[in-house]
Amino acid sequence: MDSTLANASKQATSERLGGAVGIAGFARLDHEPFPQFAAGSIWLVGAGPGAPGLLSLLAYHALQNCDTIVYDALVNADLLRWARPGAQIEYAGKRGGKPSPRQRDISLRLIELARTGRRVLRLKGGDPLIFGRGGEEAAQIAKAGIPFRIVPGISAGIGGLAYAGIPATHRDVNHSVIFLTGHDATGALPANVDWPAVATASPVIVMYMAVKHLVEIASELMAGGRSPEDEVAIISNATLPHQELHQTRLGDISAFLASFSPPTPAIVVVGQTSERREALDWYCKALRENRIG
Ligand SMILES: C[S@@+](CC[C@H](N)C(=O)[O-])C[C@H]1O[C@@H](n2cnc3c(N)ncnc32)[C@H](O)[C@@H]1O
Repeated sequence: MDSTLANASKQATSERLGGAVGIAGFARLDHEPFPQFAAGSIWLVGAGPGAPGLLSLLAYHALQNCDTIVYDALVNADLLRWARPGAQIEYAGKRGGKPSPRQRDISLRLIELARTGRRVLRLKGGDPLIFGRGGEEAAQIAKAGIPFRIVPGISAGIGGLAYAGIPATHRDVNHSVIFLTGHDATGALPANVDWPAVATASPVIVMYMAVKHLVEIASELMAGGRSPEDEVAIISNATLPHQELHQTRLGDISAFLASFSPPTPAIVVVGQTSERREALDWYCKALRENRIG
């Protein structure tokens, strides 16, 4: 590029950024036209699977501009230090098997806070609409006539696989992928999953909340035609420095779980994964020391 062109381009960029050229790093974002987080509204935001660096820019903007944060059990609390100083922080976590607030009470609390004119950030693990009850919360908020926005997050079934070096799809392996949950609202194995169809529909199955019923799930999949030789990868605490990966085979699940309890939260992946995983296992010890991701 000749110097006249380079200068014109630099000036155009500077104008576009509101004269922000020269401002370094995140401060530059202050000049971007982010959507206004209006008083009395609720933003339903995905925090990603754990690593703070996996937060989206809109999520970061919401943290910086909210009055109240209501966060879930699986949100990495490290993220909360990026909240606007003075923001009120409330915990509303639901964990299977532990005393938890009722879903309806959480939604009512969000509505109550918004009605006092606060800018309410509802921060949820992963993506709010993937096995996260975000749809239920949004429906209640919409019914109450509160303005809201949904900010997607990186779901554990996507980000967790990437941090374990497991491609969710690969042209040589699968042209489809299934995401399913291993338990329903009561904690039981979901009754409305068509296991024979799931077993044959996709070479790769990514399962949330599946550890508790894994023996039953493995039997259903094998009864539906999956080979006992199919690989199973269990990714615990994905994207965090204490991430662990354990591998077994579908037919060996029972014996595997008899001798070992994988830490939770965990994502379970059924399908041909290990061949590439060894080459793609990038999240090494040195990188984990960086707590951002
Ligand atoms: C209630 S669901 C929430 C899913 C979330 N909305 C998402 O999109 O990732 C909770 C389940 O997500 C999975 N999960 C969430 N965070 C995880 C993490 N850091 N590592 C492994 N699994 C995780 C586990 O299967 C856990 O039981």
